[in-house]
Amino acid sequence: MDRRKFIALSSVAGVSMAISSGLAGCVSNARPSSNAAFTHGVASGDPLQSAVIIWTRAVPAGNAAKADIIWEVASDKTFKSIVASDIVSAIASQDYTVKVDVKGLSPDSQYYYRFRSADSVSAIGETRTLPSNDISEVTFGVFSCSNYPAGFFTPYMEAAKNSNIDYVLHLGDYIYEYDGEGYATENAKQIGRTFEPDNDTELFTLADYRRRYALYRTDEGLLALHQNKPFIVVWDDHEVSNDTYKDGAQNHQDDEGDFFNRRAAAIQAYYEWLPIRPTFGEARMEIYRQFTFGKLLDLYMLDTRVLARDKQLEYAHYRDKDTMAFNQTAFTKDISNPQRGLLGDAQRKWLNEAMKNSSAKWQVLGQQLLMGRMLFPVSIFNGVPREQIPAHVSYLAEIKRKQQRGETLSEKELQLVASVMPYNLDAWDGYPVERERLLTQLKQLNKPVIALAGDTHNAWHNTLTLADGTKVAVELATPGVSSPGMDNYLSMDNKAAEAMAKDLPMLIDDLQYCNLHQRGFLTLNVTNEEANATWHFVDAILTKDGKVSQTHSIILKA
Ligand SMILES: [Fe+2]
Repeated sequence: MDRRKFIALSSVAGVSMAISSGLAGCVSNARPSSNAAFTHGVASGDPLQSAVIIWTRAVPAGNAAKADIIWEVASDKTFKSIVASDIVSAIASQDYTVKVDVKGLSPDSQYYYRFRSADSVSAIGETRTLPSNDISEVTFGVFSCSNYPAGFFTPYMEAAKNSNIDYVLHLGDYIYEYDGEGYATENAKQIGRTFEPDNDTELFTLADYRRRYALYRTDEGLLALHQNKPFIVVWDDHEVSNDTYKDGAQNHQDDEGDFFNRRAAAIQAYYEWLPIRPTFGEARMEIYRQFTFGKLLDLYMLDTRVLARDKQLEYAHYRDKDTMAFNQTAFTKDISNPQRGLLGDAQRKWLNEAMKNSSAKWQVLGQQLLMGRMLFPVSIFNGVPREQIPAHVSYLAEIKRKQQRGETLSEKELQLVASVMPYNLDAWDGYPVERERLLTQLKQLNKPVIALAGDTHNAWHNTLTLADGTKVAVELATPGVSSPGMDNYLSMDNKAAEAMAKDLPMLIDDLQYCNLHQRGFLTLNVTNEEANATWHFVDAILTKDGKVSQTHSIILKA
């Protein structure tokens, strides 16, 4: 560990984010002494069989440094049967956020919780503990990539009303670090989702990150979803900075200060604002953790992003500046380097052990990046202007269709579809050795495995295969909540995006389905016999009245 890193880590440890431990003492008749306002609703998360984290933010009156408030957990909505309560302090050094790890609860139970100050009562939150062994069914809502200036969080609001969802899995990009003129801000003014002047720059400091969370948590959909369902979260890159890796980020330049200080600030704000249990200790970098849903399913939440990822490769580095010739030998050598990885030794070992020891039927990975082999014909990368890519894809797909029909292809046509390369080196495709290692482990389990992914803003269904073609798992990727997708990147209207979504599975062997233009979320219902995955797409994010208008479902047999 170098000195810079050590200082950054120790400075995180210094600002201890105390999490209150709530055993079932009852102080319900006590009157809280402080006046305080509950400014950002309530949230819950990281359920266990006998515990759950509850969260709120209580800002004391008159700029006081601290407010003492009461939390209450009840088995009924009217709080006649309070099962646990205590006093907890909201303090300035934690941005007045309050997290309580409520213990002594019963498994598979619905609970209601609230917070009280002397002059105010919070909204009532609903949460539930993890099931005991005999569970027969569970439903997750899966989300990623909510960008405030890009639109209203319609998918969160729609999911908040969806009574089938038991637990929310958030795969990251819960916030974005960009400035007010940055990525996805084109419609911000028109829809009234600009940043305040004190938070209009790219995020660097603790105050910056805190203010951004505070803004995101005013969205009505996000407030409602937090209030109604427990969250299980992991971060992706934008909670720190675009394309983060273990010691830097694409969107962190040398003149932007020390990366490790920035990351420490980002992580502190994340722990303050999200209902996550610090499994490895307060403010630690490690957030990978396991949730057991009886004998039915084990869920492993992973960090492929911040903790241990080696820096991404870039095609541009392998192109000769003058001749534009691509140095395939150097690229192949680097991308096949067994030392390059995403998980790091400790997480990899933990995951391997945990999966081997699991007695559950289904194994589910909750993680950030697309794992499927997204190999596109090379010709797409060779000088096709961006706006012509959709037409080129359609031309290539037609060649493949001809091939499928058994028609003879010309020399030129054969050449165009013969060699392929990955389109996104920030995804698992950029770390094929790590992927092959993980998929080999998954195969050895001999159990049904589902890998969930976010990050791309689009919906994908891939078969996960070993290099020799053996199928080992299924990947389900959730579309962005509001972040723009491939349609935006390639300037496609809906019709063009729908056409391309039909063409891509022709070109990409392991791709079964994709949607390139609609925002939404994924639900995953799992029973002993099968898993039902449904993508829910909304019809509007630029107005507040958007609804789920389209779905796509698949059934996976156990
Ligand atoms: Fe994203």
